[in-house]
Amino acid sequence: MNKGRGGQQEAPLYQAIKELQKGGYLPFHVPLHGRGPGAPHLLQAGLGSLMQRDFTEISPLDDLHRPRGAIHRAQRLAAEFFGAARTFFLVNGATVGLLALFLALTRPGDKVLLTRLSHKAALHGISLSGAYPVFLPVEREPGTGLPLNVSPETVERALREHTDARLLLVTSPSYWGVTADLHSIGKLAAERKLLFAVDEAHGAHLCLCREIRPHAAAAGADMWVHSAHKSLGALTPGAYLHLKQPALGPDLSFWLQALQTSSPPSPVLVSLDLARRQAAQRGRRIFQKAEHWALRFRRLLEQGGVPVIPSAGPRERSFILDPCRITILCRDGKGPLLSKYLSRHYRLKVEMEGEHFILMVAGPAVVSVTPEKLARVLVRALGELDLLDCREDKDPEKAFALFPFLHGPGGLAGRRGNGQDDEVPFVLPPRKALLASCRDVPLEAAAGRVSGEMIVLSPPGIPVLSPGERISSLTVHYLLGERRRDSVFHGAADPRLRKIKVVTGTKTM
Ligand SMILES: Cc1ncc(COP(=O)(O)O)c(C=O)c1O
Repeated sequence: MNKGRGGQQEAPLYQAIKELQKGGYLPFHVPLHGRGPGAPHLLQAGLGSLMQRDFTEISPLDDLHRPRGAIHRAQRLAAEFFGAARTFFLVNGATVGLLALFLALTRPGDKVLLTRLSHKAALHGISLSGAYPVFLPVEREPGTGLPLNVSPETVERALREHTDARLLLVTSPSYWGVTADLHSIGKLAAERKLLFAVDEAHGAHLCLCREIRPHAAAAGADMWVHSAHKSLGALTPGAYLHLKQPALGPDLSFWLQALQTSSPPSPVLVSLDLARRQAAQRGRRIFQKAEHWALRFRRLLEQGGVPVIPSAGPRERSFILDPCRITILCRDGKGPLLSKYLSRHYRLKVEMEGEHFILMVAGPAVVSVTPEKLARVLVRALGELDLLDCREDKDPEKAFALFPFLHGPGGLAGRRGNGQDDEVPFVLPPRKALLASCRDVPLEAAAGRVSGEMIVLSPPGIPVLSPGERISSLTVHYLLGERRRDSVFHGAADPRLRKIKVVTGTKTM
């Protein structure tokens, strides 16, 4: 984080919009709603003030794809604040940043090192570019089975084995808020001149916490993405793509132009400008308050017998938890029940419910309620569902079943004696598998075949299976269980997962 040499109190895009509104022009331009009057009545009634600021690229608002005015200045201020040489504002989430990154920086057959904690956008980017993914196993917390992150030792080993790798992508923090030791990993990547990218979608605030958490800029990453709407308070789906070296800018800019709309929504762009401004001016105060709140809440939950993971934080020093991500265990598959119960009876909406857990994200919006009051609510609700003091299962192999997204080969380090670490799941690069001839087979008969599609549990948007990957019996077993529970998967051609697409032969394109 860099507060800059001044200018951080400015918000050039916000100013530009205000100027435009002041003018009182009659809008002979798109969008057709013309700041509201041309919109459907209910839309105007519900979103009127936002619609008054809904412009696309008219003067003096600048052009996202060739910025020279307000957007240029706003992006420069963001780059300065986040410690980048160049920052792109993204109007299609961190997703589009990841897609552009792979298209700009990798070629067909290039090896990309990443983990199974990666969001589907990373695998989609790889599918588009033709690169070849190699999964690096993720460590887990010994007591609970909670997936942590990739260790520097694993990265070092992988760099020795894959001397031809082109790019390393680390997802840090993970969806559950666990950061990797980015500093050590960054040094390893720099020594080998390997491109080092960080998916920091959930961690734009990490540089603002009291105890500064590992983050991409400090680790010398070549590029990193921030979902500013997830971790800084921007409008959905505003995000940033940051670059350490401006030299990569033109290629990324080309792909961002190809992948993003030619009518970027000004409310989202302005929110990116204002999110940066707020982070620079008051971010430390805001996020340290949220962090303090979350630490107290977590402590009270533990005292009340609520099984929070990890109770004392992951012990390994290199995996540091964002305390604002609070995972609560639920035995007997009661995660969805607890989530519904909290919503219906206590008016609390959680980020995600898994079969055996719920994930709560604490941020600036919840600190107006005292942690004491909310902890009492949670203790009462869990008591009513008989879910207190339920962390009796100490077998990490069983407990690992709580976090099934990493079932596939190459997912986790140290799976007991099953050789999982050594398996190479990708028989084909995802792009080749997507272009191959495929046929549908019953899910029950899919083990050993090569997947022709991506199957993603959402949230958290992590692929369970990617195209080109050899389908393991563990994955089939897991998917059969999810099918029985009627889970929602993205990507599958048969959304009820009765059949699955497998590769029968490859064509050359
Ligand atoms: C780790 C991670 N990376 C990237 C993304 C994509 O972010 P966005 O929603 O901003 O496109 C997500 C979304 O959930 C994510 O969890």
